[in-house]
Amino acid sequence: MPDEPISLPANASVPRHIAIIMDGNGRWAQKRYLPRAAGHQAGVKTVRDIVDYCARHGIEVLTLFAFSSENWRRPKEEVSLLMGLFMATLQREVNKLDKNGIRLRFIGDRSAFSPQLQEKIVAGERQTEKNTGLTLVIAANYGGRWDMCQAMRKIAAMVKADELSVDDIDEQVINRQLSIADLPEPDLFIRTGGEKRVSNFLLWQLAYTELYFTDTLWPDFDQQCLEKAIEDFATRERRFGHTGEQIYAKNPG
Ligand code: IPE
Ligand code: IPE
Ligand code: MG
Repeated sequence: MPDEPISLPANASVPRHIAIIMDGNGRWAQKRYLPRAAGHQAGVKTVRDIVDYCARHGIEVLTLFAFSSENWRRPKEEVSLLMGLFMATLQREVNKLDKNGIRLRFIGDRSAFSPQLQEKIVAGERQTEKNTGLTLVIAANYGGRWDMCQAMRKIAAMVKADELSVDDIDEQVINRQLSIADLPEPDLFIRTGGEKRVSNFLLWQLAYTELYFTDTLWPDFDQQCLEKAIEDFATRERRFGHTGEQIYAKNPG
């Protein structure tokens, strides 16, 4: 692709899409000799603050990793506590999100959730679907590998039905079948809690995302911490395979 134009975000210093692995709830509680549940509860307050910040600062998309496809491996009591917390939080927060113009979306295999939780998810999405403010994407029972598998199944079905030829399968075709295909790719990835790994989060979509890791545990991650991450992002030069000189020529100063 020799003459492909350099496509950069219009205002490269502000991320359009922030994706966060909210990690460290358990350790936050353990440090205080509290049950892990207390850490998850404290984490919900952080979610509120971070959503509020993003909505007020014109961030277009915030994707939060709430429960991975691997988190079912946790003790049964913790899994059911987390499910209860999702349910209660949805019940309590959807009207407020709606009032603030926030559009709520869920990604992940929701079929594993209880029928009641699935209903709440659909209702929350429906109630807020016309909103034009922040899009809040909750990744629940989500895994990047799961996302790719479900996309492959859809593509294979299209080939089988003669709607698509194998030679036409390209990045766009695959991307279109993945979750959040209609949203801008994440510009900034944040992981709290000190681990420096992606843990099966948005594997395909993170191809050119700027990565930011902090030791701060999720319940301690406040609006100032987010601001610091956004400031750090603003210092990054995103080259998308080009040279620094090419980028400078397009965006002098
Ligand atoms: C993240 O916090 C929340 C979920 C995975 C649901 P953790 O529960 O993983 O906290 P740590 O990593 O054990 O401290
Ligand atoms: C990643 O955190 C998933 C979520 C935050 C929901 P984990 O705590 O499950 O990740 P690992 O197991 O340490 O990689
Ligand atoms: Mg963890």
